[in-house]
Amino acid sequence: MQVIHTVSELRQRLVVEPTVAFVPTMGNLHEGHLDLVRIAHEHAKCVVVSIFVNPMQFGANEDFGKYPRTLQADCDKLRSHGVAVVFAPTEADLYPQPQQVTVEPPHIAQELCGAFRPGHFRGVATVVLKLLNIVQPQVAVFGKKDYQQLHVVRQMVEQLNVPVQIVGAETMRAADGLALSSRNQYLSPIERTEATFLYLMLMEIQHTLKNGVHDYAQLEETAINALVSHEWQVDYVAIRSQKTLLSPTAGERDLVVLAAARLGKTRLIDNLEVSL
Ligand code: PAJ
Repeated sequence: MQVIHTVSELRQRLVVEPTVAFVPTMGNLHEGHLDLVRIAHEHAKCVVVSIFVNPMQFGANEDFGKYPRTLQADCDKLRSHGVAVVFAPTEADLYPQPQQVTVEPPHIAQELCGAFRPGHFRGVATVVLKLLNIVQPQVAVFGKKDYQQLHVVRQMVEQLNVPVQIVGAETMRAADGLALSSRNQYLSPIERTEATFLYLMLMEIQHTLKNGVHDYAQLEETAINALVSHEWQVDYVAIRSQKTLLSPTAGERDLVVLAAARLGKTRLIDNLEVSL
């Protein structure tokens, strides 16, 4: 496995590869990331993983500074998963000058997480497009854990005619249901026990929807109240269309329940698809 830090070296290395499958990450890798690597291997012999904590997608008061950076341990994991190349650029290499040319994401990027993290999806879309242009993979794998991110990336690739197949991967969870996330390690032991409640609320809504209840606003409000009574600060709980991420139209059957909420200082997101 090669660990490459510059764009020019990476381009040189990949020029000989007929097909590449790519997994972009911010590092601090867990089983969820490694599952994306496994899926990438189904699509190409040469799997490239990027590790870059992208400043452009963090707000001024967010955790860019304290985001865990564990390159050595990450490389050890990726080596044992048969990854060909790790691309770990420096900020100066990826952003040699102030990034004035950016990707304007679709309107949906203003809603859900976008309403609470202004500019976040512009930062994500811009860095993902840069990485796709640098790596030029045939396939790129993204987790459904970041459902809105996957949607924005799919829209970008479609509307900008980027020649890559985007593959979505199911969310990997801990035994108690908590979605694996690099941010879980910010949780205190008590918070970690409580954290699974977010998933339980999503399961509850899934169950109620499957029982034929369609009052989405009421379901969302009930879940928000339950989370608040457990001392969560809730950004949103929303039942949306899988296809558009907008509010479901009458009779729409492929839904997704999305939530974002904070426990103490840690913001967690999760979602569950519900097909009626
Ligand atoms: P990061 O949070 O490191 O996630 C990298 C990829 O792993 C994303 O596609 C994310 O959805 C996926 N992932 C995270 N937790 C997962 C889980 N529990 N199960 C399955 N997949 C999971 O997402 C980013 O980085 C960045 O925004 C990035 C796309 C790299 C752009 O900077």
